[in-house]
Amino acid sequence: MQATTPQPAQTRLRLHRLAGEGGATTAFAEDVRRGLTSHPKRLFPKYFYDELGSLLFEAICKLPEYYLTRAEDEILSRHADEIAKLACEGLDEFLFHDEASRDAPKSEPVTLVEFGSGSSAKTRRVVEALLRRQQSLLYVPIDISHTALEAGAHALLDEYPRLRVEAYAGDYDAALARLGEGREERGRTLALFLGSNVGNFEAAEAGAFLRRVRGVLSAGDALLVGADLKKDAAILEAAYDDPLGVTAAFNLNLLARINRELGADFDPRNFRHVARYDESAGRVEMYVESKRAQTVRVRALGLEVGFAAGERVHTENSHKYDAAQLSDLARGAGFVAARAWRDEANLFSSNLLVAAAESEPTRS
Ligand code: AVI
Repeated sequence: MQATTPQPAQTRLRLHRLAGEGGATTAFAEDVRRGLTSHPKRLFPKYFYDELGSLLFEAICKLPEYYLTRAEDEILSRHADEIAKLACEGLDEFLFHDEASRDAPKSEPVTLVEFGSGSSAKTRRVVEALLRRQQSLLYVPIDISHTALEAGAHALLDEYPRLRVEAYAGDYDAALARLGEGREERGRTLALFLGSNVGNFEAAEAGAFLRRVRGVLSAGDALLVGADLKKDAAILEAAYDDPLGVTAAFNLNLLARINRELGADFDPRNFRHVARYDESAGRVEMYVESKRAQTVRVRALGLEVGFAAGERVHTENSHKYDAAQLSDLARGAGFVAARAWRDEANLFSSNLLVAAAESEPTRS
């Protein structure tokens, strides 16, 4: 690989702030109004990730009970080179039954796109594997939290002089619209959707989201999806209700955020964190539960909200998958499930999907 003079980190970063990004208070205010006046009450999990919430989530990822991050890292540490090779060579072999209609594998540099990158800690394995194959790498992280995004981008740029970062702070809708515009310049693409982020969507939303991702990719491009697997309720409930109370703080921070940004007077001590696994729905549900009857004022909304003792606000679903559900999800969204890897303890799966050609027959 030919040596080039590294550019200073700052000149290798472009950060775009899009609609729906952490600072967009109007949408937040509207969603809080709707959520707290609906029956049952609910708040969207994307609002967990203000500056404090993003830090709390990073702390969750270090908890012994929250096995997801370590399991995925184990998979990526073992298979990142194979993933990089498959992505760089295109994935025709998974798209065409007939050898004659495949192009001979030819390695090309890829652009790395990541949805829900957070601080990009788990992305390093893939970045390093790609930089072992190509001269330079354009990394396009997308996250709702611009603080996590910026911190992550700076850390990566300092570490990898051959990396450029084009970061989008905003929600997925806004970012997908922008990615649609830049499809030609990106060339062959490996997109990442790691960390069980897919689990925070309802099944229909997950399908719709992946279909939109397919829409900004070209046939043969790859999408790596990290999905948590169905398992024993005790393991799952411990992962979402840790003894140190970090997940409780992460959940209750949503109320504290409403206080900070919308002038509400929630006392988080009057609410408790609840996490339970609903086996038939295959998901961990999180709630904040009112410990007593109480009224909360949200000044910026001119709103008074009554809570009955034991009343819950639904804050998150975290869906758990099995192999059949994952390949159905892929197929329904215009992908072919090419390869899947699991960690040694069989807790988590990383799934390499290939964007299917619109008009070609795909392997079922
Ligand atoms: C970001 N997401 C994949 C996490 C999850 O496991 O659903 C969020 C989380 N909620 C509680 N702990 C972690």
